[in-house]
Amino acid sequence: MLTLGLNNKPKLSNETFTLISGLIYSRSGISFALTKKYLLEARLQKRLEGLSLKTFEDYYYYLTYDAEREREITRLLNTVVTNETSFFRDVMQLNAFRKGVMPRLLSEKDRTRSTNIKLWSAACSTGEEPYTLAIMLLDDGIPTRGYGAEIVASDLSDNVIKSAQAGVYEKYSLRNTPEAYIAKYFQNSAEAYAVNKKVQELVKYRKINLYNALEMATIKSVDVVFCRNVLIYFDDASKKKVLAHLYDSMNRGGYLFVGFSESLHDVTRLFKPVSMERTVVYQKV
Ligand SMILES: C[S@@+](CC[C@H](N)C(=O)[O-])C[C@H]1O[C@@H](n2cnc3c(N)ncnc32)[C@H](O)[C@@H]1O
Repeated sequence: MLTLGLNNKPKLSNETFTLISGLIYSRSGISFALTKKYLLEARLQKRLEGLSLKTFEDYYYYLTYDAEREREITRLLNTVVTNETSFFRDVMQLNAFRKGVMPRLLSEKDRTRSTNIKLWSAACSTGEEPYTLAIMLLDDGIPTRGYGAEIVASDLSDNVIKSAQAGVYEKYSLRNTPEAYIAKYFQNSAEAYAVNKKVQELVKYRKINLYNALEMATIKSVDVVFCRNVLIYFDDASKKKVLAHLYDSMNRGGYLFVGFSESLHDVTRLFKPVSMERTVVYQKV
């Protein structure tokens, strides 16, 4: 039966919502409550149009049985994620990284005669977060002080990774960025801001799904993880799973930043909260 809404667009029934959101959950850990059905319906209209399908039931059938289903599941995940981000987002956390975490980390590195520093932006979206980390490392002279700094940046969505690798932004993405950094670390032409090569060179991009144990196991020995503003899309069970994967990828004593409004309280005891610069950072125990 063809189910159409008032505007002649296909309607997503509760049953098909349960099937599609179940598939999304099983592949990514992203949890859509029934109250968010309208969101999924709106975001997936384009996929139906792209495939010339008339109903969400046909779309679910395509996702389940078509020879191209794996490619379409990737597109589906690209479509449902929220990519909102900016350079220098939540500056209090960045201060905690710079003034709290980094001095402790460097003195630990010096004590153990190690020089490698590995950061990971684990849901990097279009690259603003890892490039912000790179700018701070460069500005604090970390790479020139004899440390080998590396920033891994990953995301589930290949669309955002492509855009991150291009490294070109509109002024709006830089709304929280100090002018002195814009002048020093970007090239500005025709309303576009491109990150400088030396910033780009510090960041290596990968496509990694936080929910996928095999993909997550490829990242090891990380000193500081930024996994900000993504846990909010997971339920407690998928948060636990993702946090356990992150834990395994980190060095003992390593630091974890989650989003300003996210908390590990009641989710896991793998990390202990540490107060720094008026914010909470988690440490691997
Ligand atoms: C709102 S953005 C956050 C970007 C950045 N961390 C920040 O705080 O500004 C959330 C990102 O998480 C990614 N994401 C969602 N589920 C994911 C998963 N299971 N694995 C990896 N990335 C995921 C999305 O593709 C999106 O780019």
